[in-house]
Order: sequence, then structure tokens, then C-alpha cells
Amino acid sequence: MNMISDIKALHPQKRVADRMAMVTTSKIYEAIAKVADMQAQGIKVDSLTAGEPDFDTPAHVIDAAIKAMREGDTHYTAVRGTLAVREAVRQKFLRENGLSFSDDEVMVGNGSKQVISNALAVTLEPGDEVLLPVPYWAAYTGMVYAAGGVPAFVRPSGDRLTAQELRAAMGPRTRWFILNTPSNPSGLVYTKDELLALGEALRERPDVLILSDEIYEHLHYTPERPESLLKLCPDLAGRILVANGVSKAFAMTGWRLGFAAGPADIIEAMANLQAQTTLGPSSISQAATVAALNGPRESIDNMVTAYHRRRDLVMQIAKSHPGVKIPRPDGAFYAMLDLNEAFSGGTRFRKIAEPDMAFCEWLLATQHVAAVPGSVFGAPGWVRISFATDEKTIEQGLSRLLTAAVQS
Ligand SMILES: Cc1ncc(COP(=O)(O)O)c(C=O)c1O
Repeated sequence: MNMISDIKALHPQKRVADRMAMVTTSKIYEAIAKVADMQAQGIKVDSLTAGEPDFDTPAHVIDAAIKAMREGDTHYTAVRGTLAVREAVRQKFLRENGLSFSDDEVMVGNGSKQVISNALAVTLEPGDEVLLPVPYWAAYTGMVYAAGGVPAFVRPSGDRLTAQELRAAMGPRTRWFILNTPSNPSGLVYTKDELLALGEALRERPDVLILSDEIYEHLHYTPERPESLLKLCPDLAGRILVANGVSKAFAMTGWRLGFAAGPADIIEAMANLQAQTTLGPSSISQAATVAALNGPRESIDNMVTAYHRRRDLVMQIAKSHPGVKIPRPDGAFYAMLDLNEAFSGGTRFRKIAEPDMAFCEWLLATQHVAAVPGSVFGAPGWVRISFATDEKTIEQGLSRLLTAAVQS
């Protein structure tokens, strides 16, 4: 008797926990895999899907990693990270954000993705809600479901969420509010006044925790740098967890190093979970992160200059396609294109419930341009493009995308 197949036949639905039904592969990775397949067949694709910098990790960071390896820095580290990396993280917050954290209020993990996921896992009770402004980074929903929670969505009437909308959206089960500015997928950046107003609304609900995802803080095209909610509302200190990392600012996505700072009890629980699952991240990545956080800033400036030029190019191309609206991204390296008018005025996608899904599939197959459907971020009828790619790809890809949308 084969026990495994017997059990499977008896309980086919019980092999995987119910909560995993909502945790699926990201459509973004599916699109990227499809592009790779096409390219392997010799088809040239203009891909506007990248969620990571198209630059290399700065040389001094790589040198620090090699030095660490040569000097035997190749062992398990403390779960929250080495003293050196924790100190570098604390100094970064003090220097760049004016935020002071004690050592027991910071930790590092395998990417900010892991620290966010840990934070949700150690705080959510079954059925607790996590409030996400639309459009939201798709990964939040999977993390919430995996932790037994339920995402709740709030759709701003304008580009960004107002205090009034936040107030109305917080329900009795709201446990967390997630704020991501500059934002993936829209590239929008909340202003100081907007953040102060959100802070007012959050003050009225002392039971709600706030996750401030600041991973794109360095990538902004405004004279002022994006503000941290915690800096503006220091009285919310016991409730705000700041997530950040080196992936985007230092082109270090593959190093898998993120960090969190916030209430010591939550950090301790996150570290306990990490101790029993993955331990501290790679010792080599931690050494590299110390070099990145403490080192020169030229690489960031150079990347931001390039992204800024590309952002302007995106807006300039968009201008010649009336009927397509793009809220100007002032940060990150994404833009959301509102194609609703183009879809409803055309014939091909007019009667489809999620026209952006069908459009992106059709666009890749016929125009060889890859972009991510807005439905992935809770925004059907929209499409996300990334400008973390060269100007020629942006110019050719975006022009073909917009022409196809308007003519479809
Ligand atoms: C909004 C947002 N937060 C967090 C992350 C995760 O970055 P990492 O896990 O590489 O630190 C990403 C990556 O795309 C992101 O877009």
C-alpha cells in the first residue's frame, strides 16, 4: 500500500493549507519568464517589466564582500545581524532620516521582503485585516494571506490616499496600515503635508500598526527627499515599523539584504521567527551592506540622474498619446498608465473584465513589448511599466505599447 497516494486520494485538498489558496506565483515573474523564453528563441522583446535596477552593485561594495570572505567572515551571524551591520543601519537612520533607534529596535533579514513578511507573521491573528491603498505592491497580499490575515483595499479618489479616506477605511479588524512611498507600482510620492494628515487619522486609532515601506526613498526626482512618516509624527513611534534595504538604492537585489526598525517587542518576535526559520542573512551580504550604508554616495547619484532622465522621457512620449493618462512618477522607477479610455474607446478589449490582462498578453505576443497588467496591483485597466532599462528600450517599447493601446 502506498501511504502517500492513499492519503492524497482521501484528502486531496488537505495537502496544502487552505490559506495558501490565495498565495500564488506573481504574474510579474510569469511575464518575466515568458520574455526570457521568447528571447531564448531569438525574438527581440522590449521589456518594461524590471523590478530592479539595471546597474551593477558599486565596486567598493563588491570589494568589501570579497575582503569579508577572505578574512573568514563566512559563518553564522547573530540572528538580527552582526553588530557592525546593526550599527550601520542605526547610523543610516540617524544620518539620513533623523531617526534614532536603539540596538534592540533594528534587525536585518533576507531582503526587506523577509522582514515585512516576518512582521506580519508575528502580529496577525487569523482574520486580521491589513489595509492597503490601491494600487499596492502585489507581494503584500501574498504575505498577508500566508500569515493568516486578510488584505483590505482602499481606493483613493485621487492619486494618493487622503486622511479622510484612510479614516473611513479603517475598520474594527484593521491591524496594519501599509504605506509605501515612493510607491511601487505608481512611483507616486506622498508630500510632507499629506503624511502629516495621514498621521492625524492614524492617531485616532492607537490599535493600528503602521508599516512604512521606504525601500525607494533614495530614488526621487523632486528637489526634496521623501519624508519618513515616523520623522514627521514622532508620537507614533510605538506603532510604526520602518522597512528598508539595499536592493534598490545600491543595485543589490541579488544580495538579499533588507532591514527593519521599530518597536522592540515586534523586532524581538520577528527575530525569534527568523531564528527558527532562516537565521541571519548571509554574512557576506551583511559585510557588503556595511560598506554600502557607510560608503560614498556617487553610485546613487548617478543612478538617480539616469532614472530622472528616463522618467522625463516616459512623460514626453506619453504626451504624444492623448487619451492615456500617466500620474507623473516622482520616485521609484515605475509608472502606471491609465488605459481605461483607450480600452473603452476601442474594439478589441472593450468588453473584457480585466482588459489590461488580455492587453499585456496580446502586446507581448504581437508587438513584442512586455509590461505588467495593473490588475496585479488592484488596478484593472491600468498597466505598469518600469523604466529601469535603457532609453532605447523605453522609447521603442513605450511608443509601441501606447500606439497599440490607442489603436486597439
Ligand atoms: C515596495 C517594495 N517593497 C519591498 C521590496 C522588496 O525588496 P527586497 O526584498 O529586495 O529588499 C520591493 C521589491 O520589489 C518593493 O517594490
